[in-house]
Amino acid sequence: MTSPYGFKGRAAVVTGATRGIGLAVARALTEAGARVCVTARDAEEVRRTAAELGGAGLPGDVADPAHLKSLAEFCVRELGRLDIVVNNAATNQPYGPLMDADPLVWRTAFTVNVEAPLRLTQHAWHAWMRDHGGTVVNICTEGAEHVGPHIGAYGTSKAALLHLTRQLAGELAPKVRVNSVSPGLIRTELARFVWEPAEEQIAAGLPLSRIGEPDDVARAVSWLASDAAQWVTGADLVVDGGTRVRSAYHLPGA
Ligand SMILES: NC(=O)c1ccc[n+]([C@@H]2O[C@H](COP(=O)([O-])OP(=O)(O)OC[C@H]3O[C@@H](n4cnc5c(N)ncnc54)[C@H](OP(=O)(O)O)[C@@H]3O)[C@@H](O)[C@H]2O)c1
Repeated sequence: MTSPYGFKGRAAVVTGATRGIGLAVARALTEAGARVCVTARDAEEVRRTAAELGGAGLPGDVADPAHLKSLAEFCVRELGRLDIVVNNAATNQPYGPLMDADPLVWRTAFTVNVEAPLRLTQHAWHAWMRDHGGTVVNICTEGAEHVGPHIGAYGTSKAALLHLTRQLAGELAPKVRVNSVSPGLIRTELARFVWEPAEEQIAAGLPLSRIGEPDDVARAVSWLASDAAQWVTGADLVVDGGTRVRSAYHLPGA
């Protein structure tokens, strides 16, 4: 029996795939048999990552609508198909109280975190998925459920991405499944300012006793993108080491 987790013969695009969670996802899909196209802004990093994975790469900014159209077309041309879209690239700017937020920078958060995933899904739909089916996984955040200091633009845009995921899941069924993964604190550059100064303390307060690694998220994305999740759409898979249930967690010895 073929493994339901296998992606042999399938093609994927992963945005923001040169480091952190996106790179782990691109590696996991490749190891499971997919051919993967990566994108990010730094062209040299895109070239290096595509070479490492034996896949394809097209540098560009997901905030640029023309790049997203080219990306979907490039995947179909280079890889022959486009079965899986992972919308991972994001910005956490503008950081700070919303009363100080520059509306133009605020708009960029929505362009990168919400509009780009919609545009790439639209292009993948027209270029391949409408006729052949496929699956989309959006990377949201565990934090989209709460409000918090300084991350109002990020949280609001990610909450919109969560809603977009459900809306598209309904609109694109049954051809295309659309789900999201919401990570807690993961050891990446984006979140370094959070975990680096206080990792031990943060880990001690988490039910699963450590911060997350990019591979923790990659495994969840792989499952949602695979046939093992063939009856799952519109779902959000929280991968947070128990962050959301920590108020019921008793510290050992406390
Ligand atoms: N780390 C966490 O704790 C955490 C928690 C919850 C959710 N997340 C989510 O996980 C996803 C990945 O975050 P990460 O922590 O892995 O970030 P990261 O380590 O900073 O990596 C971000 C990747 O995205 C690319 N990128 C950034 N802006 C881009 C743009 N405008 N266009 C194209 N590529 C872009 C970067 O390359 P270039 O700079 O070369 O473009 C890089 O490859 C994001 O959606 C984030 O919101 C992360």
